[in-house]
Formats: sequence, structure tokens, C-alpha cells
Amino acid sequence: NQNQTLKQDSYIVMLTVFLFSFLQTVHSHKPHFIAVHCQEVGGKNCETSMAHVDSFIKELLSSDGLKEYSRARVYLDENYESKELFTALGSCYFIHDSLKNIQQFDFKAKKFKKVVGKETCSDTLESIPMLEKQKFPQDYFPECKWSRKGFIRTRWALADCAFDLVNIHLFHDASNLVALEKSPSVYSGTRQKALGYVLDWITDQRFEKLPYFVFGDFNFRLDTKQVIESLCSTATMQTVQAADTNEVDKLIFRESDNDRKVVLELEKKLFKYANQDVFRENNGTSLLEFDKELSVFKDRLHELEITFPPSYPYSEDSSQGKQYMPTRCPAWCDRILMSATARDLVLKPENEERSIVYDNIGPNVCMGDHKPVFLSFRIAAGAGKPNANKHKCCVVQ
Ligand SMILES: *[C@@H]1O[C@H](CO)[C@@H](O)[C@H](O)[C@H]1NC(C)=O
Repeated sequence: NQNQTLKQDSYIVMLTVFLFSFLQTVHSHKPHFIAVHCQEVGGKNCETSMAHVDSFIKELLSSDGLKEYSRARVYLDENYESKELFTALGSCYFIHDSLKNIQQFDFKAKKFKKVVGKETCSDTLESIPMLEKQKFPQDYFPECKWSRKGFIRTRWALADCAFDLVNIHLFHDASNLVALEKSPSVYSGTRQKALGYVLDWITDQRFEKLPYFVFGDFNFRLDTKQVIESLCSTATMQTVQAADTNEVDKLIFRESDNDRKVVLELEKKLFKYANQDVFRENNGTSLLEFDKELSVFKDRLHELEITFPPSYPYSEDSSQGKQYMPTRCPAWCDRILMSATARDLVLKPENEERSIVYDNIGPNVCMGDHKPVFLSFRIAAGAGKPNANKHKCCVVQ
């Protein structure tokens, strides 16, 4: 039907814009090693969209912008028929031809192997020894209902510098009204438990402990109760009950004067705030004080300073690159986090080209409901030795 066709068309436009903006970022930073972590591969309608994913990956692998990256590893979890296993995660790694010494860890054989050629795997990732994939245990899911949440871990050695890369997708906020009930919200609790599970998993006794980078969609939200109290500090709240159940299904916040102008309308899946500029002025960074979900992990996860706007939920209208969708309070869901040892790798190389960039991709164009985030940095192989090689890395979420 026509609606379906329109949706598919806008999906293709979005993938094209995504590809262009991604390659632009690659071009301006010229990394030797690129790691791209995707979530919800295939989108919400996997059955119809997986074909697009496959052709997108083919296009990406053969694109001019990546022609100097003749080694690649692509892991796509496309097995949507298995609800116990499907995570819809996609992890892609590209290696520049000038990088001679790169190895990937085989978790079964417990040793590093030289990376040659290009490989794409999109089926039964569970059985591939070059990665560890897990869906969270069922009792970690809200109401024990399966959804596509889990993680994929790979391990790499770039010259003599080895590290883990973890692609992660944590639980979302199902209802704005429930998120508002208490601070911190019940959802932040389920995310905290799942993130703790991942960190315990990647630092257990089975393998040598290495610096790790965890990047993906953490679904971190601003503390809903506190942010609404701040955004609506002078407003009065009106509750609206559903006619059939008498349950409160809508909250309306109005100014007490000024013709009782509506400031915020809130429903399960509606967050309609009158002045979206607060999320864009100064890149919304005045709201970072409500971004609190990392604080319990402050010894295990580190991050560089955020200077870009909230990465979610952007409008999916391809003519609206900076507009937020009025469904959720904008938040920094997409993050690149690291262990203390990984942060040392990023911050240490004290050379003239020490340029570290933590930013988003495509700030002015529609990239879908999430704006990708990237971190570009150098790691010095053989740090401290004379003539140490400097390797440029770029990780994209
Ligand atoms: C705001 O974000 C944009 C896009 O990510 C970035 O280029 C710009 O430097 C940021 N501005 C500030 C004031 O941090």
C-alpha cells in the first residue's frame, strides 16, 4: 500500500543520508581503525527491512569512502525468528590498509588471530568464536517480556595495545507517566542492573582483563521527575482521567498567569514541551545536571565531556534535522564509555596531534530518531618507546 511504500522510501533516504554523513566523518578524521556499533538493525519492522540492511552493508563495504579499508568484520544479528536470541545488534569494524599489525581475539581458542580480508556474518552469531553475544536473562526484562536488548563483545589487539569493544542496548522507558512517579525512575533501576551484568561479564575470570570501551544505546534518560520540576517550576498541574478506566492518562502543566498557557503535555508516549529551544540552546548542556544514570558506575565507566545536544528522539521527517519528536524528553541515550585504563589510552598519547573529538554525526540532517555519536582519538602503540607508532581510532555509536 501507498503508506508502506512511503515509509520504505523515507527509510532509504535516511540510510543514504546516514551513509553520506558517516563517510564524511571518516574522511575528516581518517582513522586507521573504525568501530561502528548499531542497534535495532532492521528497524522495528524487521521482516521487511532486513533486505535493506543487507544492501546497505554491501554499499558501505564497497563505497569509495572506505576503499582504503580492505579488511573488515561485520556482525549482524538478523535472526529475528528466535525471540530468545535475537538482539538486532550490528557491530562493524573497518581497518585501514596502512595499519599492518591488527589481531582479533578468538574466545574459544583463547588466542589472538591475524585479521585478513572481509567477513560478514549475519546468522547464528552465538556460534562465532570471534565474539561473545548475549541477550539479557529473561528476568532482567521489565515484566519478563522479551525485547531486543543485549550486548556483543569483541576483543582487538592493535600492535601491542589490546582492548575490548562492547556494543550494548539497554531497556527503554516504556511510559513517561511511570518515569515521573519517582526519582530515580523504575526504568533507570532496570538499566543499572543490566549494565552491572555486562560489566561483571566482561571483567570476570575467564579472560585477561583489558581496557574496555562500551558504546551503544544505553537508553539513559534525564531524571524525569527532576527535569519536569525544573522545566515546569512555575506551572500548575492538571490531571486528565481516561473515560473508561478512570486512570490518569494525561498530565497538563499550565502557567498560572499568561492566559494559563500550556507548558507541557505528558502522556505514556507524549512529551510535548512548548519550548524545544531549551534542548538546543548551548546544545542542551544545561540539562546535563539531570543526566544521572552513570553516577553509580563512576568507578567503572568514564566518559569525555558531552558538548553535543541530546541524541534522542529526533523527528524522522527527512526535512527536519534538528527537530525533536514530541514523544519523550530529549536525552543522551547514545554514549561512548570506557574503563579507567581505556581512558588512559585515549588521554595519554602526548603528541602534537593529540586531537580527541567526542561529538555527534549529522547535526543538521535527519539521521533517524537517534543521532549517531562518535569518538575519535589516537592510541600510541608501544607508548614510551622511541618511534612509537600512533594509531588513529574512531568509534561510532
Ligand atoms: C554544539 O554541537 C555542535 C554539533 O555537535 C558542535 O559542532 C558545537 O561545537 C557545539 N557547541 C557547543 C557550544 O558546544
